[in-house]
Amino acid sequence: MADTFEILVVGSGIAGLSFALKSAELGHRVAIVTKKHQAESNTNYAQGGIAVVTSAADDFDLHVRDTLIAGDGLCNETVVRRIVEEGPKRVKELIELGLKFTHNEEGSYSLGKEGGHSQRRILHVADMTGKAIETALLSAVNGHSKIKTFEHSFVIDLITLKKLEKEGTHDRVVGAYVLDVISGKVRTLSARAVMLASGGAGHIYPFTTNPSIATGDGIAMACRAGVPVLNMEFMQFHPTTLFANSPKRFLISEAVRGEGAILRNLDGELFMDAYDDRAELAPRDIVARAIDAEMKKSGAPHLWLDIAHKESSYLKKRFPSIFQTCLDQGIDISKDWVPVVPAAHYLCGGVVTNLEAETPLPGLYACGEVACTGLHGANRLASNSLLEALVMAKNGAESVDRYIGNSQSYDSGLPEWVDGEMSDPDERVVISHNWEELRKAMWDYVGIVRSTKRLKRAMTRIENLSLEINEYYWNFKVEPRLLELRNLLLVSELVVRCALMRKESRGLHCTLDYPDKNELLSDSVLEPEELPELSR
Ligand code: SIN
Repeated sequence: MADTFEILVVGSGIAGLSFALKSAELGHRVAIVTKKHQAESNTNYAQGGIAVVTSAADDFDLHVRDTLIAGDGLCNETVVRRIVEEGPKRVKELIELGLKFTHNEEGSYSLGKEGGHSQRRILHVADMTGKAIETALLSAVNGHSKIKTFEHSFVIDLITLKKLEKEGTHDRVVGAYVLDVISGKVRTLSARAVMLASGGAGHIYPFTTNPSIATGDGIAMACRAGVPVLNMEFMQFHPTTLFANSPKRFLISEAVRGEGAILRNLDGELFMDAYDDRAELAPRDIVARAIDAEMKKSGAPHLWLDIAHKESSYLKKRFPSIFQTCLDQGIDISKDWVPVVPAAHYLCGGVVTNLEAETPLPGLYACGEVACTGLHGANRLASNSLLEALVMAKNGAESVDRYIGNSQSYDSGLPEWVDGEMSDPDERVVISHNWEELRKAMWDYVGIVRSTKRLKRAMTRIENLSLEINEYYWNFKVEPRLLELRNLLLVSELVVRCALMRKESRGLHCTLDYPDKNELLSDSVLEPEELPELSR
C-alpha cells in the first residue's frame, strides 16, 4: 500500500527546503526524502555566499553581463536576467526567516568579491554561508505541519505511467520507490508531483569538494524516466582546495582571492598574470586551467595560495572556518602559504528545465544543481548557484501548484517494489572495486584538459563497469552503495558522451583535439533514447 503525498521533494539543500516551504505555504502536503541526515547537503558546505545586487555601485545589467561572460556564450540571457532580477526579493525572504548576513563596521552588508565579478556583490555569513542558510531553512521546515521529512531514505527510481506500461495515456510521474536505509525495506510513495533537488555529482571524481551525498542520483533517475539532459561536459573544478593526504578536498573559498590572496608556483613565483589580465580573479575555468598547466609543467603535486600579508585578526573574523581548518593541519594562513589543488566542485549541466523548473515529463520538476536552466552556460559565475536555487524553488512551487490544480490524481494503486533475491556479502567487493575504478578513470581521462582518445578510453571503462553493475542491480537486494554506483556510472556516461559531442574548447570543456571555440555550437543535448537501456 503506497503512502500518499501531493508533492515529493528529493533532497534537503537550499533548493529542496525552499521549494518545500513555498509549496506548504500554498497548502500542499509535502514529503521531503533525503538519503542521509537532513542537514547533509551541498548547501551546507557552501562558503562563498549569494551573488545578488544590493549595493548602489552595482546594477542588474552588470550582474547579467558578468554571468554571460563567465558562461562563455552558452547562457540563456532571458533566464539570466530573470534570475538576477528576482534575486533581491528571494534573499529578503531568507532574511525574514532569520538569516543574518555579515555586516561591516559601517552597518551595511559586507560584500564579498569572487572570480568573474566586476563588483563586490556576494552576501555572506563569514565563510559559512551555506550552513547558516541550511539552519534557517531547516528550522522553518521542521516546524511546518504540512511537511514530513524522511531521513536516511534513498529514492531508487521514479514511477511513471510509461514504466507501469499504461499505454495510450500521456506519460507522467506518479510516485517513487524509496529505500529505507536503516530497515532495508522499500517504501512506495505516491505523489502528484516530484521535485528533484538532489544536488550534483562531484563523486564521479575521487577528488571533490562535495559531501558524500553528491552522486548524481536525481540526474540519473530523471534520465531513466526519459528526460533529456544538457551540457553535462561542463563540470566545474574549483581552483583552490586544500591539498591533503586524504581524497577529501576542503574548499579554500574564492572569496580568499577576492580579499587579495595570490597564487604562487612551487618556486614561489606569481603566474596568473601570464594567463589572464584578471589574474587571480579571472573566472574559475581559467584559473583552474592555469593551475593545471603550471602543475603539469613542473610536476608539482600542488601550488601555493598566499594571503599571509593580511592580519591574523582580520582573517580569523572573515574566514573563521578556513582559518581553523588550516590551523588543524598545521597551517597558519596569516603566516604560511596554503598548499592548494583543483577539485571537482559543481556540475553546470543537468536535467533540462524551463524557468518554471518544469522538465518535459509532466509532474517532474528539478531545481538547484541537478537542473540545467541555462543560467550557467559553459561555466558558472561564482556564488550564482544559491541564487538560482532560491529563485527556481519559488518558480517551481507556483508551477507545481498550477499543475496539481489542473491534473487528475492517479488512483489505480502502485505496484510494490520487487527486490533482487541474492544477497552475498562477499560480492560487495565488486561495488567498492568498481566505484574506485570508475572515479580513477574519470580523473585520469575526463579531467580539466581532455582529448578524444582519453574520453573514448573512459567510455570503454564505463561501459564495462555498467554491464557488471547492472547485472548486480538486477539480481541482488538493493543497498545504498550499489544504487549510488549505478547512478555514478550513468552520470559519468552522460558527462563523457556530452564531452565527445562538443567538438570545441569552451568554458569548462577544454580538449586538445579542438582547441578553439566554435561560435556555431550551442548546448549539448542528450536524449535518453540514445543511451543503452539501464533501468528496470
Ligand atoms: C567558493 O566559496 O569559492 C565557492 C563558491 C561557489 O562555488 O559559488
